Amino acid sequence: MEPSKNETYGSQEYWQARYREPGGVYEWCLGYAALSAYFDRLLPIRGTRCKSDLKIVMLGCGNSALAEDMYDDGYRCITSIDYAQNVIDAMSARNALSRPELQWLQADVRNLPLPDASIDICIDKATMDVFFAAAGSKLDPWNPPASVIENCNREIDEVVRVLKPDGCFIYVTFGRHDRAALPKASHDTTRLDNRHV
Ligand SMILES: C[S@@+](CC[C@H](N)C(=O)[O-])C[C@H]1O[C@@H](n2cnc3c(N)ncnc32)[C@H](O)[C@@H]1O
Repeated sequence: MEPSKNETYGSQEYWQARYREPGGVYEWCLGYAALSAYFDRLLPIRGTRCKSDLKIVMLGCGNSALAEDMYDDGYRCITSIDYAQNVIDAMSARNALSRPELQWLQADVRNLPLPDASIDICIDKATMDVFFAAAGSKLDPWNPPASVIENCNREIDEVVRVLKPDGCFIYVTFGRHDRAALPKASHDTTRLDNRHV
């Protein structure tokens, strides 16, 4: 159910309607099979901590299998967030018996219902991209409209707030990495060590 205009990806109603259709799995960008090698490089298990202790948040999970595949690979504490209540309900039901420790939460990534400094890893796969898509076909990635910058910065502010001081934010995007430089401009760079892989 792809919309005729890119702007539509910026609408919560669009996502709710999309997930009303019985769905299975739809994986944006790449799945865990392709990403796990990068994750291993980016997420060294620090000190004595093991995968199963790391607190992870999926920002805009949709019906991606990423949390499920990571769970099957040993990660346990994963909270998946999406603002579409129906996909959260479906994902919660799909995993209730087989992966009981996975958590599913309806929320906006720009207003995370999570305590400060409580998360080791935040993962955004194609969710911040939606803020860019909402600007439509006239988007100039070098000079995005104020609404795009504001939405991205609201998400980044929340990510920075909930991450522990040694936490890690992974953004898997369709976009060019110059877009990922946006948050660097408006946030304390001592807390954001940007790496492009
Ligand atoms: C392009 S899909 C990516 C889904 C999934 N991360 C993947 O890689 O397959 C974007 C998802 O983000 C959700 N989303 C968009 N804006 C959001 C927001 N402000 N807060 C929470 N979820 C949002 C949509 O409902 C949708 O499920």
